[in-house]
Order: sequence, then structure tokens, then C-alpha cells
Amino acid sequence: MKSVGYGEVNRRRRRPGNEWVVIRLAGRGVIDLAEIDTSWYRGNQPESASLQTLDATTGASLTDKSAWCELLPPVRLLPEELPYETLPPADPRRPARVPVGIAEADLQPVHLDFDNEPHVLLFGDVESGKSTFLRCLARGITEGYAPNDAKVIIVDYRRSLLGTVTTDHLIGYGTSQQVTNDLIQQVVAVMRERLPGPEVTAEQLRSRSWWRGPELYVLVDDYDLVATQTGNPLAPLLEFLAQGRDIGLHLVITRRIGGASRALFDPIVSRIRELASPGIMMSGPRDEGPLFGTLKPQFLPPGRAWLVTRRGGNQLVQLAWAPPPA
Ligand SMILES: Nc1ncnc2c1ncn2[C@@H]1O[C@H](COP(=O)(O)OP(=O)(O)OP(=O)(O)O)[C@@H](O)[C@H]1O
Ligand SMILES: [Mg+2]
Repeated sequence: MKSVGYGEVNRRRRRPGNEWVVIRLAGRGVIDLAEIDTSWYRGNQPESASLQTLDATTGASLTDKSAWCELLPPVRLLPEELPYETLPPADPRRPARVPVGIAEADLQPVHLDFDNEPHVLLFGDVESGKSTFLRCLARGITEGYAPNDAKVIIVDYRRSLLGTVTTDHLIGYGTSQQVTNDLIQQVVAVMRERLPGPEVTAEQLRSRSWWRGPELYVLVDDYDLVATQTGNPLAPLLEFLAQGRDIGLHLVITRRIGGASRALFDPIVSRIRELASPGIMMSGPRDEGPLFGTLKPQFLPPGRAWLVTRRGGNQLVQLAWAPPPA
């Protein structure tokens, strides 16, 4: 609760027992919807919540336990921190299906499925968990694929992800415009070879049998620093994005949420969105306006996000957490 002005509230506690708030309704009525928003808790989020009612018109006392009816039995809430190790391990038979977190609705794992949706776009505020997401994703990719089956390029001007991938999966690390330009030129040369010519049949397209080679994951942190007035080294990838699935190209972008609604007009960002790619919206100011469908940013704890997918709709999720490499 943002303010205790709405009702009666007990003091925050760190000992066993629960915190509560009593809200007196203006009159007798039917409750259509009660929303319990615990996202304002910082560092001490409750693990569960429940809801009881008392009919005050009977004159019952608040302290009379028997006068209370249970409306919502205790339901578990998303944890504050979801250690990466608690997710199911990456499945080497389906390495493109990468576990990334758990959903609020059922607390079950949620995956990104790069076979079906090759690219992902994430917006998040300062320190909302953007780099952590990429770190965990890189881990999922390198644990699911053999190094010959997938390669990773990281573009990260602030070097937040240094040391994240130490296996042979890593083939490039762009820390500046110059280095990233060169890397992307190499990617373009490979992808051009993979583009299906007119002779490729529908069956070959489905089985991707006209080329051989690893999947390529390009993970970009802080895209706002990469696409600038002086150019965007990722721009040459634009023409390949629509065929990402066929040619094994995956682009995952995180960007600061401030100014995100303007960034929707950026050619790369807008192409990824046109392809109905999964969107991840972490904490952000509401006045940024709708970013995915009608979904507007809201204040969320670190690692908490709205995952927007074509199949799953909008899901509130807790993304996995792993510490930066020592
Ligand atoms: N999934 C998560 N679960 C819990 N806490 C998290 C999670 N991700 C990040 N955090 C916490 O949030 C803080 C910022 O994390 P991170 O560096 O990943 O955010 P960021 O959005 O990349 O920040 P910046 O804006 O500086 O780039 C860290 O202290 C981290 O512990
Ligand atoms: Mg970061």
C-alpha cells in the first residue's frame, strides 16, 4: 500500500507472523475485484497473501476471529529473488527453449522459445535487471547447446557482461562501435549465404536443410548506447530479421525504458515488434506510455517483469537471478 491513509495498518515486521491492513468500505457491497499489489515492497517482499472480510453492519468486533470470512486463502506470491539454479535445466533436445523465470499465475517456469520466436526485446529502468536477464539467458543458451551448435556475440559497451560466457560459444564481444561494426559485417556475410534462394522448397525451408552451421545469438545490452546519432552498427541486420528462424539468427535487445516510446520508431526495434516477438517490460515510469500492446510501464522490483508473448498473452514473471562472474 502506497499510503496508510486508506485504512488501518500494522507496522512492518521481520519476525514470524504476518502484516495486515484493514480497509473499511464505505458501505455494504459486492467485491468484484481486489488487487493486492506487493510490488512496492523493497527487499522484504511477502511470500504469500490472503484476504478476509467482516460484515461490520452486524456490529462484530474486528478482534472477533469468528466474525471473519475467508475470501482468498493464502496464495503464494512471486519470490523476491529466483536463483537461476532453481529453474529446470536447459533441455539439450530442445535447446532453443530457454527457461528464464517463473510466472505469477502458477509459479511454474516460463520459457522463451527461440525456434518459434527468434528475437526478443526488453525495456527496463536503471538497475531493473536488464544485464542480469542477459547473463541468465546466455547461461541457458550455453548450457543447452553444444559449442558447435550455437554461437554467441555480445554487444555491451558498458562491459556489464564481461566474463559471462567463457566457453567456445562466444565468438565476439562488441565493446565499441568500431568493434561491433566489424562483428556485424561478419554476421552479415554468413547470413547472406544462408538466405534461401528461389530453388529452396517449402520442405527444405521447414527442415532448414539448405545450410549447415550453428545458430547465432546476438545479445545486446543497453541498446540506447549502441544506436546513436553517429550510427547503429546493428543496422545491417535489419534485412535478415524477418527470416531469423530460417537462417538461425536471433537478436536479443535490452534498452533503457526512459525514451522507449520514441525508440519504438527505431528501425531495428520496430522490426522486432512487427514480428510479434516476445516483449519483456521491467520496472519503468507509467508516463512512458504503452510499450507492448496497451501495457504501460509500472514500478516493479528488480527482476520482476511483464512478459508479453503472442501465445501466452501478458504474464507477470520473476526472472531468474545469477550473480555476476567473480
Ligand atoms: N532477476 C533478478 N532478481 C532479483 N534481483 C535482481 C534481478 N536482476 C537484477 N537484480 C538486482 O538489481 C540490481 C541491478 O541489476 P542489473 O545490473 O542486472 O540491472 P540493469 O538494469 O542492467 O542495471 P543498469 O541500468 O545499471 O544497466 C542488482 O543489484 C541485482 O542484484
Ligand atoms: Mg545493465
